[in-house]
Amino acid sequence: MTNLNRRTVLSLAALAGLAPAGDAFAAGALSVGSFTHGVASGDPLSDRVVLWTRFVTPDGAPGQLRWEVAQDEAFARIIAKGSANASPFNDYCAKVDASGLPAGGRYFYRFLSASGASPIGRTRTAPAGGRDPLTIALFSCSNLPFGYFNAYAHAATREDIDLCVHVGDYIYEYARGTYPSANETLRNRWIEPAGEIILLSDYYQRYASYRADPDLQELHRLKPFALVWDDHEITNNTWWEGAQNHQPQSEGKWVDRRAAAFKAYNDWMPIRTFANEPLRIYRRLDWGNTASLLMLDTRLIGRDEQLDWQDALAPVLAKGEAAVLKAVGDLAQGRLIDPKRSLLGTKQEAWLTAELSRAKARGTDWAVLAQQVIFGQQFGASEAARLLPADASGRNKQFITLTGELAKRGLEWNLDSWGGYPAARARLTAAMEQFGPAVSILSGDSHNAWLNDIAGAKRLAAVEFAGGSVSSPGFERTLSKAADGERESVIRAANPLLKWADVTNRGYGVLRYAPNALSAEWVASNDISARSAGAKSITKLAVETGASGLSGWMLA
Ligand SMILES: [Fe+2]
Repeated sequence: MTNLNRRTVLSLAALAGLAPAGDAFAAGALSVGSFTHGVASGDPLSDRVVLWTRFVTPDGAPGQLRWEVAQDEAFARIIAKGSANASPFNDYCAKVDASGLPAGGRYFYRFLSASGASPIGRTRTAPAGGRDPLTIALFSCSNLPFGYFNAYAHAATREDIDLCVHVGDYIYEYARGTYPSANETLRNRWIEPAGEIILLSDYYQRYASYRADPDLQELHRLKPFALVWDDHEITNNTWWEGAQNHQPQSEGKWVDRRAAAFKAYNDWMPIRTFANEPLRIYRRLDWGNTASLLMLDTRLIGRDEQLDWQDALAPVLAKGEAAVLKAVGDLAQGRLIDPKRSLLGTKQEAWLTAELSRAKARGTDWAVLAQQVIFGQQFGASEAARLLPADASGRNKQFITLTGELAKRGLEWNLDSWGGYPAARARLTAAMEQFGPAVSILSGDSHNAWLNDIAGAKRLAAVEFAGGSVSSPGFERTLSKAADGERESVIRAANPLLKWADVTNRGYGVLRYAPNALSAEWVASNDISARSAGAKSITKLAVETGASGLSGWMLA
């Protein structure tokens, strides 16, 4: 810092009445600047939590800040403090892992600068033991130009939520007017930059654009988050070595884009990553003996390339039914069931099995697998064809016909989900049944809400809550000619282990884990074309655990 800047800092700090104690100046003067995107916290453990803010100085130089955690909102009882740096190398995001905090507490935190304090955030630490209930809010698929983030606004009003879990598609990578189209884009919900995000600076701008949303920013201020990415934080249908929406000829090397997406995610999100393991986001967060929350990466780190029915069938469609059926059989009996096909990767899969065993050995009641793509089987419904509107596109008609025909042959339609990696799914199902405590799977990605029972060899291996979407549209857009509840009943009739579904509304899940029970709510949002913190409806569901294992989903 130049002398001029230092003098400016000192005088402005004095004017603001915030001149810090001499020792802080000895350690480095606080900077002048502004907090541009509020505060956030995340990944609470029993003694620490990640704190986040973004602070920009007038000349773009690194910003020197202090942080404080207190037991009271007036910051009279400060229990931890330190310094933080908002560097241009991290897009001016400052992150600290505030440690030495008492377990199971609720705290206030803030950052201090020479221009004043940040907004005051609220956070908490996990209990170190015991069986206090854990209440999670589950979010996925928040596409800003499609609508208002009413799900976030509703969750911000609830005192009972301990932790917000976002399982991905927190942002979308597309250019303006792509998804949603220009016609579907809500007025005043513009994203920056205008083009598809490819470079690190693009990803940074997109996060800044999303985090300017007041409902998202306020929820981050009020609740700690635990986040994992899905594909759109990188680009559509990502796998380890590429993605459907990445063209190396025009968009550069895949490894560069992958690294840019990770860096932006790590800088902007209040997550704890691994200094020696770049691109690793899978990790564990324990909540006493109530739950072991296992945040997984099914999207990138160990994923083999997706298979796709339409790609496989396209070359033979004109050759007649026999050729089509042969192509279906070749894929279904060939590459699809290859035991080497991986979704988690060898290392994460071994880690997960060990974590399930660890949770059981510690007497933990629940293993909660927070991850991206739907785990349960998904079969198409031939009956769904009558729910297509008269002006349905040829593509949609073909898709619904194909998924129904596949289902008649016992084949699932969604090969981007666990259904495209059946050997990996069978291994994890066996591991959950054999080694784990009660297992609850949380999923996103699909834009509709599904509650599945996951069958093991002898008993239920898990229950899955696949959590709808904050704003991205789902099947209701394709199957639009349906009476109330008709879409849901048609799809449920084709999927015996699908215990409940909402294929109509946007929203989020609330899951409360207690020693012998899981109670859940599906909170359907008010119309997302207008900003609202209300809810259209709340459906209550429950699972019990006992000597014979999980009961499966029931309406409560
Ligand atoms: Fe999505």
